[in-house]
Amino acid sequence: MSDLYHEYKGTLFPQKSSSLEDLAFVENEFQVRDDDIFNITYPKSGTTWMIEILSIIQKNGDPSWNQTVPNWDRAPWIETLGIAQKLKLSDEHPRIITSHLPRHIFMKSFEGSKAKVIYTIRDPKDTAVSLYYFSKMSVFYKDPESMDHCLKDFLSGNIPFGSWFDHVKGWMEMLGRDNFMFHTYEDLQRDLRGSVIKICKFLGKELDDKAIDSVVEYVSFKNMKENKMVNFTLLPTGYMDHEKSPFMRKGIVGDWKNHFTVTQNEYFDKIYNSEMKDFKVKFPWDSSIKK
Ligand code: A3P
Repeated sequence: MSDLYHEYKGTLFPQKSSSLEDLAFVENEFQVRDDDIFNITYPKSGTTWMIEILSIIQKNGDPSWNQTVPNWDRAPWIETLGIAQKLKLSDEHPRIITSHLPRHIFMKSFEGSKAKVIYTIRDPKDTAVSLYYFSKMSVFYKDPESMDHCLKDFLSGNIPFGSWFDHVKGWMEMLGRDNFMFHTYEDLQRDLRGSVIKICKFLGKELDDKAIDSVVEYVSFKNMKENKMVNFTLLPTGYMDHEKSPFMRKGIVGDWKNHFTVTQNEYFDKIYNSEMKDFKVKFPWDSSIKK
């Protein structure tokens, strides 16, 4: 295991962003409120995109909150240092809480609550490519040095927040519950407006057409890339090197085709098929996986 990581109940976490005490507090003591909204993702699946969408929906289409407050204060990552203690005291209603935690170590007080979860999933091949660049530009992850190493760690789950497959299967067990909604990064790309309307409905928010237009315009890749409250250029120096790769990198579907060799792709498909063989839900990328 890299010395950049430590382990909580069998799952790796970056030492620079999560302490074992915080993780135990989140799991065992943090009190979920019924009106909390959870933005849950495996890393590099559209987390920051969803933060922007949820924040502007909360303000009924008015982008000023998004434009003046960093995303990590609007929708904090609960597993990061000191955040759960801070959130405990927050008088924001509803709280928008972001998390990459796998389901099995998520907060116990969530069970039985009415808090809502929006789970965003992305083609794991694009997730892996996005993670490859993020690992190079941020201090939280080990630099994988090559795509071969990156894929080996990604597909074995030897990586912060554990296996993509376990994460997806764990959270998708909630399917069918009233307080759970999932969608894909690819859905957002294909039909952003339709996705925003669905999210509003799930949250019980009634936004008029003008407000929906404002959400859609504001959360475009271009607008988000230029917003300092979103693109992580406000982080203290040393955490991310945007010269190596910008956080808001490409924002496209299918970038894996520009990165994987035929052999890497076959290896990926083989593991994907074996991990997902009994999984019933179909995803937009399934047709690109060779059986
Ligand atoms: P790429 O590295 O493929 O460009 P996360 O927020 O979970 O860390 O995910 C980051 C990924 O989401 C990055 O992918 C980033 O560019 C992409 N992303 C963020 N906002 C987006 C937007 N508005 N439209 C499309 N992609 C977006």
